[in-house]
Amino acid sequence: MDFEPLEAAAREALAPMAYDYFAGGSDDEETLRDNVAAWRRIRLRPRVLRDVSVVDTSTTVLGTPVALPVLVAPVGYQAMAHPGGECDAARGTAAAGSLYISSTVATMKLEDIAAVAGPRWMQVYVQKDRSMTEAMVQRAADAGYSALVLTVDLPVVGRRRRDERNSFTLAPGLTVANFGLEMPSVAGQSGLAAQVGRDMDPNLTPSDIAWLQEVSGLPVIVKGILRGDDARAAVDAGADGVVVSNHGGRQLDTAIAGADALPDVVAAVGRDAEVYVDGGVRSGTDVLKAVAMGARAVLVGRPMVWSLATGGAAGVETMLKELQVELANSMALCGARSVGELTRDLVVT
Ligand code: FNR
Repeated sequence: MDFEPLEAAAREALAPMAYDYFAGGSDDEETLRDNVAAWRRIRLRPRVLRDVSVVDTSTTVLGTPVALPVLVAPVGYQAMAHPGGECDAARGTAAAGSLYISSTVATMKLEDIAAVAGPRWMQVYVQKDRSMTEAMVQRAADAGYSALVLTVDLPVVGRRRRDERNSFTLAPGLTVANFGLEMPSVAGQSGLAAQVGRDMDPNLTPSDIAWLQEVSGLPVIVKGILRGDDARAAVDAGADGVVVSNHGGRQLDTAIAGADALPDVVAAVGRDAEVYVDGGVRSGTDVLKAVAMGARAVLVGRPMVWSLATGGAAGVETMLKELQVELANSMALCGARSVGELTRDLVVT
């Protein structure tokens, strides 16, 4: 997709504090940049003389059909991007035939999002008060979310200089709607970092995967893994899937890019769980490479945010459909008629 003009238009549309929150990474933002660059470093070995008169981008994720192997990543506070917030993002995602992952720290309640969404998963930040998390995941199950996405790469918040400089906090009237919580506002500090320190539980272990499965009755996907051994441990503890992710370059700076971490995780997990990847996915060829390397699907964060900021639900729908067109085009040029034909040999190793 033509990402730079999209981001530039969103930057125009947003207040600087909001733009910086969505765009930024941690420390020197090395990982933020490398996420994009890593997909571009990978080269393709296209096949020819295959009949590609019909190309099908559809697949399934944990059994749920989707029109393309691209899901919408959980992103906090979407009403800071557009008044329609999470509901508009979920509507646009459904219109494009994709799956929406609702953030724990959404500015709209998970039930309100469910009412307008298509297929959906619920992202989980475990709260220090575990009864709050138990109640939230039970509400998610009742509201038709078909899986939980347990985020494990945020025991503390990465040092996001932009948010510290801006004393980031939520715009007036917005809350962490699932719990009705206000975000602290502290001069010279990130309110988000203060909120995480106040509310979120850094004491997570593999046994929490089974706890969440038990209290919700839902499958659990573990998000924020960058190593094969951690992926294996999560799967051995019962995870139904893992998301290879460095949180969009917002947590540990100089952490390995998703694209570079994917092969180790795929090798460690084998066929025992589904593997997803995110970070810097901006084009159909990025998606194609991820699937060829063994990912079931990718997640997109900022492409959704900028599309939402500039075009609401229709913007999100257009962005996903554009990625689908690009993916179909690159599949045809690689001699692949279906995502099942996207095999490892298409990628230079
Ligand atoms: C995120 N991400 C995130 N992840 C999560 O599990 N829960 C969350 O609430 C959030 N919030 C959030 C806010 C913002 C503004 C961004 C940019 C990201 C991480 C997100 O799910 C995903 O891993 C990255 O966004 C993927 O990278 P790209 O596509 O943004 O490059």
